[in-house]
This record gives sequence, C-alpha cells and structure tokens, in this order.
Amino acid sequence: MTKLQPLANQYGHDVSTHVPDHPGGVIALQGRDAAIWEQAAPLLAVRDNDAHTLYAYALATSFLAAHPEAEPAIVLPAILLHDIGWSQVPPEEVLSAIAPGGGRPDLVLLHEKEGSRLAAGILGDLGHDAGHTQRILEIIDGHDSRREALGIDDALVKDADKTWRLSPHGLDTVMDWFGLDRGQALRLCSARVHGHLFTDEARAVARAFSAVESASAWDQRRALTGR
Ligand SMILES: [Fe+2]
Ligand SMILES: [Fe+2]
Repeated sequence: MTKLQPLANQYGHDVSTHVPDHPGGVIALQGRDAAIWEQAAPLLAVRDNDAHTLYAYALATSFLAAHPEAEPAIVLPAILLHDIGWSQVPPEEVLSAIAPGGGRPDLVLLHEKEGSRLAAGILGDLGHDAGHTQRILEIIDGHDSRREALGIDDALVKDADKTWRLSPHGLDTVMDWFGLDRGQALRLCSARVHGHLFTDEARAVARAFSAVESASAWDQRRALTGR
C-alpha cells in the first residue's frame, strides 16, 4: 500500500502552511470524469482493474498536456471505460487471457466488444456528445488487440494503459497476478512495454519507471531497507 501519512516528523516543526494547494502536475478526478468513474467502478472490481484504471487515467491526463491536438473528451472517457468489459468475463478466466506463455485471444476480444457495448450505455445515460462517443467506442473496441493506433487519441489511451504496467502499482499488481518477485515483474513488463509505445512522452515515462524500479531491485538498495 502506498504511504499516505508520515511515519515520523524528523524535522520536528510544522511546515504544512508552506505546501501549495495547486502546483502544476498534480491531477484531480472530478466533474464529467468523476461521473463516468462512478458508473465504471462497479464494472472494474476484478483483479485490481479499478485501481489500474485510475492510474491509467492519471497517466493519460499527463500525456494530454503534451498533445494539444488530442481531444480530452475522447481520451479521458475512453481510458476510464476501456476495461469495463472484463466484468462480462468469468473472473477465474481473466488472468488466463493475458498470462505470459498462454493467452486467450478470444477473451481479449470479448472484453473489448463488451466494453464498447457497456460504454455506449454509460455515455448515453450521461448525455455525452454523440460524435465523441462514437470515437470512444471505436477506441475501446480493439484497445488491446489492434496493433496500430487509429490516431492520437487512440495512441494516448493505448500508451497510458500500457505504461501503467511499469508504475509502482502496475508492478505490485503483476507480481500478485503471476506470483513473480519484483525483479521478475520488472523484466516481464519492461519487455512488454518498451518498443510497444506510440508517443515520445510515454516512452520517456516508461523508461523512467523502469529506471526507478531497477534501483529498487538492486542488492545495494535492498540492503538499506529497514534502516
Ligand atoms: Fe483491456
Ligand atoms: Fe487496461
């Protein structure tokens, strides 16, 4: 679990009044996207897909800052809804769909198709722009199986989805999915992510995630744990 509260105040003084409220780079989930999340979350409550979606949303938001030509009203709903189709696959079969050395392409296609169908209902209920909705559904239908990006919006969704694997939460999750230690998960995800991204921003972020996790796996770093 990510540390959210301090374990100590080694300085011994209160510095909280010097902490800015809204510095650049800190992302909120609110408004339209919070409403979409409310609908998506119950459909994502399997194999940590809900937390995966939040982190992928945050990554997509950061990538959008570098791509003014992309459409946030397409990219952000698409990333929030891209995996809701897993809710229609038996939970015990979800991991067999994506396991290394195995894979069930039929289940991957099923979660894409079902995700697109369910997203149409959610976006329709929320009154999302019909033209945007159509492009969101095209992105969801094929987000894993389609090798090429349909355009910059699709590329950012694919890159955010994939880059998550190398994030701290992504590696935590993959370790438990497949019973791997952190170094194994890092090597597996590095092989599956680097060389498979569409944008320079995602490539840089993915490389940085791998670099930080490399240091965490070093014997020299682990020898410092508990100090
Ligand atoms: Fe997916
Ligand atoms: Fe995903």
